[in-house]
Amino acid sequence: MPVAQAAFTQAMSRVPAPVTVATTTDRDGRHWGFTASSFTSLSLDPQLVLICLDKAASTHAAFTAADRFLVNILADDQSEVAVRFATSNIDRFAAGDLVTCELGLPGLESATARLACTTHRILDGGDHSILVGRVEQLYTGSRPPLVYSDRRFTRPVPLDQPARAR
Ligand SMILES: Cc1cc2nc3c(=O)[nH]c(=O)nc-3n(C[C@H](O)[C@H](O)[C@H](O)COP(=O)(O)O)c2cc1C
Repeated sequence: MPVAQAAFTQAMSRVPAPVTVATTTDRDGRHWGFTASSFTSLSLDPQLVLICLDKAASTHAAFTAADRFLVNILADDQSEVAVRFATSNIDRFAAGDLVTCELGLPGLESATARLACTTHRILDGGDHSILVGRVEQLYTGSRPPLVYSDRRFTRPVPLDQPARAR
């Protein structure tokens, strides 16, 4: 018996997620970008990441046709950028705060990290497409990341207990 959509999104709201802005360019050099919290690492060898994009999004055709994309990991003072890149029917690049970054893609200089990928696979994920990227170039800064949790933006509060995934 499937669960109600509202129950599903409520449960998922308890999962803290990164806040990223994915960007790409099309054959005409036009910039495309969207805010995404569905970003995660997938494989260490080869180095793969994934990001999920709504099939109904205005950016879907551009990202699924692109041979590369850039994932900007937002810092904790960049919630306004996150909102802008999630807003429909505006020019998300009009503020002029994106510059040419890794692989020649438009990126945010003040992001806390950037991962530039070539498109490795595009997988079907229900009403989303799963963009699997092979990491080709990256930048890592030291600013605290922005976090999306309980349907709001927040920032991490480190505990004393050490933890290391790898
Ligand atoms: C915090 C946050 C996280 C989001 N994460 C995703 C995501 O992972 N995948 C996605 O397709 N849309 C995500 N969205 C929605 C998109 O940014 C965007 O609003 C949506 O694709 C509609 O854009 P459109 O006007 O280009 O169709 C997120 C929005 C916010 C505010």
